[in-house]
Amino acid sequence: MGKCTVFSLFFVAVAYCYLASAFDPSPVQDFCVADPNCTVKVNGFACKNPMKVTADDFYFGGLHIAGNTTNAVGSRVTQVFAAQVPGLNTLGISLARLDYAPGGINPPHTHPRATELLTVIEGSLLVGFVTSNPENKLFTRVLQKGDVFVFPVGLVHFQFNAGKTNAVAIAGFNSQNPGAVVIRNAVFGSNPPINDDVLAKAFQADKTVIDQLQSKI
Ligand SMILES: *[C@@H]1O[C@H](CO)[C@@H](O)[C@H](O)[C@H]1NC(C)=O
Ligand SMILES: *[C@@H]1O[C@H](CO)[C@@H](O)[C@H](O)[C@H]1NC(C)=O
Repeated sequence: MGKCTVFSLFFVAVAYCYLASAFDPSPVQDFCVADPNCTVKVNGFACKNPMKVTADDFYFGGLHIAGNTTNAVGSRVTQVFAAQVPGLNTLGISLARLDYAPGGINPPHTHPRATELLTVIEGSLLVGFVTSNPENKLFTRVLQKGDVFVFPVGLVHFQFNAGKTNAVAIAGFNSQNPGAVVIRNAVFGSNPPINDDVLAKAFQADKTVIDQLQSKI
């Protein structure tokens, strides 16, 4: 075997390792129902004793109930992730219900571990995501009931209810625990706060503007 082949195999191996760890790992058993009480920390939750697993571990009720949108952004996300449904642990899939009051927004955010597949089941939404390469290109659309839109993993995206009635969407994710980084909260609402000199320089804005943004979160 020539050096090149060895190197190629090495890079193929590295590529596979990377792919295998970029998303939720594939299960190697029927299920691994989360045991939140287990003190052993693993990637995901440790498995509950399979003999103690019941149908309830795979169940979530009440997704027909609208989320409470009486809040500053006028939207609510009801998560159906592994934290809510222990049976989703290790399965690499989850979903959420999203409710939007008229004028409500699900503010710009990213899911570090999942692509999102969103379908509107009531009302209409203005949605969009911004790319990393080509840099900062916005892909945006208005969605009506029955329309589906994809938000690729890790990219900043949003949904806005520009209609006069409530809107409802269901989103699927290819992770049991997609995570959400809300840009506004991460940048202006971190704990402890990011130094306002840093933010003033980064946003080319006056420090009083930065302080005002920080105080709102
Ligand atoms: C975790 O511990 C609590 C308190 O002891 C108990 O009520 C609960 O059933 C336990 N959960 C599991 C999945 O064993
Ligand atoms: C919705 O949330 C608001 C603000 O927290 C609260 O005042 C109101 O009672 C809630 N409504 C319902 C139906 O739970």
